[in-house]
Amino acid sequence: MAKCCINPSILSADFANLEAELHRISNADAVHVDVMDNHFVPNLSLGLPVVSRLQEISPVPLDAHLMIEHADRWAPAYADAGVASVTFHAEASIAPIKLARELRARGAKAGLALRPGSGVEPFLDMLSEIDMLLIMTVEPGFGGQEFLDLTLPKIRRARAAIDASGLDVALQVDGGITEDTIWRAADAGANVFVAGSAVYGAEDPAGAIERLRASGRR
Ligand code: DX5
Ligand code: ZN
Repeated sequence: MAKCCINPSILSADFANLEAELHRISNADAVHVDVMDNHFVPNLSLGLPVVSRLQEISPVPLDAHLMIEHADRWAPAYADAGVASVTFHAEASIAPIKLARELRARGAKAGLALRPGSGVEPFLDMLSEIDMLLIMTVEPGFGGQEFLDLTLPKIRRARAAIDASGLDVALQVDGGITEDTIWRAADAGANVFVAGSAVYGAEDPAGAIERLRASGRR
């Protein structure tokens, strides 16, 4: 059974107190950092200078999710900054295999993300080139959206392909993950769960992480 990981998204944290917000989730497996450029998605969050500092002070590894155009040009810089896991969107990369190899060569784990409407089949041949497949369960751009059940068959197909390959590839879901929805994604085969509002919107983020972890084990 693949390890169940809960990665809170700091998109829902207090941006004026990011260091303190990181320490509130020190029982997380990693912290999910959403980078948005207002082009690939209609929202703007934070970029490389902030991520570099977060990487230096975070008690947990960084899981960067790059929702940016020109991923081929920008993603390697996040690996150079020491980010443990760098995920770029397939839709924003001209040469995803080359980019994944560049990330790994720089010591980062390489993640490939797919929007809800993007098929997984064209990318199954490159499972050996990546460490994580991220299937978006909302349209990327904003926290607090509703989980899209239509992504469940794709999660199942991805899980079947990963298991058949025998490779150690994590299957991450991101968007609308709560205590009410996490079991559906887990049942479909996801093992790494991003949760923004469900963690930072809770009175007790560390407790919310534990409750999600208990529900996310399949
Ligand atoms: C959305 C981001 C998510 C977001 C998740 O584009 O990629 O990581 O923060 O937020 P929730 O868990 O509130 O849906
Ligand atoms: Zn994200």
